[in-house]
Formats: sequence, C-alpha cells, structure tokens
Amino acid sequence: MTTIAPADRYAVVGHPIGHSRSPIIHTQFARQTGQNLCYETILAPLDAFKITVDAFRQSGGKGMNITVPFKLEAYSLASSLTERAASAQAVNTFRFEKDGTILGDNTDGAGLVRDIEINLGIPLQNQRLLLLGAGGAAHGVILPLLQKKLARLAIANRTPDKAKQLAQQFTGYGRIDFGDFLDFRGEHFDIVIHATSAGLLNELPSLPAGIFSDVRLAYDMLYRPQLTPFLRSAQNGGAQQVADGTGMLVEQAAESFLLWRGIRPETQEIIRQIRHMQSHVS
Ligand code: ATR
Repeated sequence: MTTIAPADRYAVVGHPIGHSRSPIIHTQFARQTGQNLCYETILAPLDAFKITVDAFRQSGGKGMNITVPFKLEAYSLASSLTERAASAQAVNTFRFEKDGTILGDNTDGAGLVRDIEINLGIPLQNQRLLLLGAGGAAHGVILPLLQKKLARLAIANRTPDKAKQLAQQFTGYGRIDFGDFLDFRGEHFDIVIHATSAGLLNELPSLPAGIFSDVRLAYDMLYRPQLTPFLRSAQNGGAQQVADGTGMLVEQAAESFLLWRGIRPETQEIIRQIRHMQSHVS
C-alpha cells in the first residue's frame, strides 16, 4: 500500500490580507522545487495575533510569513531571532521548530539587496545610497545594506530625529549620515531608495531639487501597476533606471522559502508573472 504524505502547511498572517501575493509566489516555488507544501492566507483580528499564530502552529503549521501590522508583535513573540531580525526589530518570517520554539527572521533586507544586485545588476559595493524614510520599512533593510560595503549610507526623513535614532541604533555596524530631506540638497547619490509610507496615499516626500541628477537607480519599495509618484519624479529628475518593489517582494519570499525548506527557488519567472498580474489590476 502506498501512502501520500500530507503537505506541510505554511501561511501569511496580516490584517488586511486579501491582497497578498504570497500564496501565488510560494505555491509556484513549491511546484518548481518539487516541495510538498501548501500555503494559505490568514486574517488575524487586530487584538489576536498570538492566538492566531498559536492556533496555526498547533494545527501542524511549519512556518509563517507576517505582514502589516504584526511585524513588531512577531518580533516580541519569537523565541530566538536571526541577527538581521534582531537588528531590524521586526520579524516577517517564523519557522516553527521541532522543540516547540519559534525562530524569527526578517528577509526584507536580503530581498531588497538581491533584487538590486542580482535582478537589476547593480553591485552595491562602493555605491552612495540615500534611504528615504525611518519607519518600519527602512528599519528592516539597514543591516543587509550596511553589510554590502557601501561608500555611503544616508537616511533622510521628514522628522529628522527619527532618522537620527535609527542611525544611532546601527552605530555598531557602520556609519550612517542622517537628516531631513533638504539637508541633502546639492549632494550626490548613486542609488535612492524610497521607504516612506507617503506612496500609500499617492503622496511624495518633498525632496531637494536635483537629487536625482546623478542617480543610477531610483527604487521604490512599493509595488504598483503604474509608476509611483516617487519613480515618476525620479525619472523626470534624471535617474537612469527606476524599479518598484515587485522584485523585492518575490526575493524576500524566496529567502523565507530557503529558511523553511533549505532550497532557494528561481525567481525570474514569478517576478514576470506578478508584474503581468499587476498590470491587469486597476
Ligand atoms: P511603518 O512603520 O508602518 O513604516 P511609520 O513608522 O509611521 O510606519 O513610518 C512611516 C514613514 O513614512 C516615516 O518615515 C514617515 O515620516 P515621519 O517619521 O516624519 O512620520 C514617512 N512618511 C509618511 N508620510 C509621509 C509624507 N507624506 N512625506 C514624507 N514622509 C512621510
């Protein structure tokens, strides 16, 4: 008699969650790598993140992705943390260990770095990089960026004190300049990364004129069917290349998949598919 092993269960938890592309991405990864797993979305009530995680784990779940607004709660809930999750103070991936503990990881920064270096073909070493924003999205990517031996990392934020706090938090890892947007007037950067939440409202931070004139890559962590206001402004300002966060989305998922299954899936085809799907939304 042959028996078929049940698929290992994974899920993404958030609130809201209906928009998540993660099930499509992970299902594709599993097919491509021959891994026997299924991946679902779970809407957690805002006040019941831990209960939701525990219920999934007790029902046999092997791991989870965590999205807005639970990444900080996930950081607190993890029993142990990878270095990149500890420094980000936010967790987007749980691996449920056999001994009942939860490993918390943050794959966002690694996803961003892989997208820029591998998919867009721009090595980060010796680049002058300006990161716009000092909230959760910026937090999550600083350590993997610092580990790339940049020529310079600067953080500009509407509230400069928050940029200062963030820079100080990473002093053990490397030098970070900080200020408000206008503090960087007249300065030259190779890469500008947009990590504020202004784009969610279709708004744009007030950036100094000329900031894009030498820019090789303007990168928006958001992904949208059309060019975001930030990318449009970068293009008009002379940036040589612009990219949205679709590649980062797929690469952070691949990094989670690697943590869970020990195998790194190919990402090119699914990035193309997600872009195609985006272009048919709205
Ligand atoms: P999250 O952690 O979810 O990213 P957050 O901590 O509120 O949310 O951070 C949002 C980021 O976007 C912050 O850097 C915020 O700037 P402030 O620190 O000055 O609030 C930035 N942001 C939001 N709306 C913005 C806008 N219209 N212009 C410029 N920056 C904006």
